[in-house]
Amino acid sequence: MNENDVTRRDFVKTATVAAAGATALSGLPAWAVQENREPIKIGCIGCGGRGTSAVNQALNASENSVIWALGDAFEDRLTSSMNTLVGEKGDRAEVPKERRFVGFDAYQKVIDSGVDVVILTTPPHFRPQHIAAAVKAKKHVFCEKPMAVDGSGVRRVMESAKLAKENGTNLMSGFCWRYNYPLRGVYEQLHNGAIGDVRSAFSTYYSSPLWRKPRKDGWSDMEWQMRNWVHFDWLSGDHIVEQACHSVDKLNWAMNNEPPVSATAVGGREMHTALETGNVYDHFGVVYEYADGRRAHLHCRQMPFCYNDNNDFIVGANGICNVNAWTGSPDLIGPNTNWKYEGEQPNMYQVEHNELFEAIRGDRPTINDGDFMAQSTMMSILGREAAYTGQRVMFEDALNSTTVLGPKEYAFTDYAIPEVATPGKTKLNRA
Ligand SMILES: NC(=O)c1ccc[n+]([C@@H]2O[C@H](COP(=O)([O-])OP(=O)(O)OC[C@H]3O[C@@H](n4cnc5c(N)ncnc54)[C@H](O)[C@@H]3O)[C@@H](O)[C@H]2O)c1
Repeated sequence: MNENDVTRRDFVKTATVAAAGATALSGLPAWAVQENREPIKIGCIGCGGRGTSAVNQALNASENSVIWALGDAFEDRLTSSMNTLVGEKGDRAEVPKERRFVGFDAYQKVIDSGVDVVILTTPPHFRPQHIAAAVKAKKHVFCEKPMAVDGSGVRRVMESAKLAKENGTNLMSGFCWRYNYPLRGVYEQLHNGAIGDVRSAFSTYYSSPLWRKPRKDGWSDMEWQMRNWVHFDWLSGDHIVEQACHSVDKLNWAMNNEPPVSATAVGGREMHTALETGNVYDHFGVVYEYADGRRAHLHCRQMPFCYNDNNDFIVGANGICNVNAWTGSPDLIGPNTNWKYEGEQPNMYQVEHNELFEAIRGDRPTINDGDFMAQSTMMSILGREAAYTGQRVMFEDALNSTTVLGPKEYAFTDYAIPEVATPGKTKLNRA
């Protein structure tokens, strides 16, 4: 199929399409106007590394789509993202100046610009606000993991997910392993009892520290923290939430998406001592406890010169399942199974967008990842709160906590680095 072919799949099933005429098509690229075709209009909020790749995948997923609007807190990030996209995708990615929005309110301007679908790829702190605004405006949403950095953010995401269900709009999460074909295969086997009942699960996410950006003259505290967002708990949720949430999501999947009752944890910062490492920890170890007494365990670490590993071990009554996230190859070992994944192995990030755009066109049922995306995010936050406080923390208490991380208002001004949590001293703010 080339760009000029028009098929049923090329048309978004929305009222805007039915209404599309010469007037509605104004402002579109030349090919769309010539052919009187209404493309799917994509907006991206947070034009960094992941946002740029996700737009690319969205454009791959639908030949009849354009990048319509871009929004970022910083102009340089937006421009560099657009230049990359134009280099790869040509005029489909060229966004006119009047639809490039910069600042803390850029998200609303992108949403109001006439887009059909928004890609939400800022640091996680802003995700609940951006999801809420996009869902309220009845936009289809692709939102990167994690969904929030605190219980109040998760509660807001849960409300938005409910509203998206009522509206019938798509809400897809960036918990990409759920879109990985071999993992879908192995989890189906697990849930069908290939290794018996799941007794426990253990995941590791040991990696090197993430990037840092040295502070430049003229940067306010806020700009410096936002440009180094992974090192501040209010922006990233800490690395257990920002990065290891993938492993937590696979634990959650292994436990059939049943929430744990509580968590206990250890954690601290041994190598993160410099100012620019903000207030996050560099290691966590969490035990999640379930109502029936089962446990799931998570170890995650971001330290240099150490052994790196990203594995899940799921122990069944009659065998084990091992998923290696870096090779992507799941294994089942047990007397009653000789299952091996032998199907296709497409890029899971591309699968996400292929499925999202199929759902937008109405070629598959509407997607709503709300339940598991909120729960896996909440489990990650629960693990962090258990480590920060040094207490056994109940899932419900963490979910209903009154903590709202970050400033009350957003402005490029002074903002002190929040304190580093001290187990035994830091408290969970209960409702
Ligand atoms: N699924 C995956 O495998 C995967 C991989 C990488 C990143 N991610 C997730 O994607 C998100 C973004 O990560 P990244 O690596 O692209 O980071 P990044 O720093 O490269 O990009 C974030 C962008 O958001 C912008 N931004 C910050 N605050 C904003 C605001 N309030 N409004 C608008 N724009 C704002 C920043 O200026 C930056 O351009 C994170 O949640 C991360 O966890 C997921």
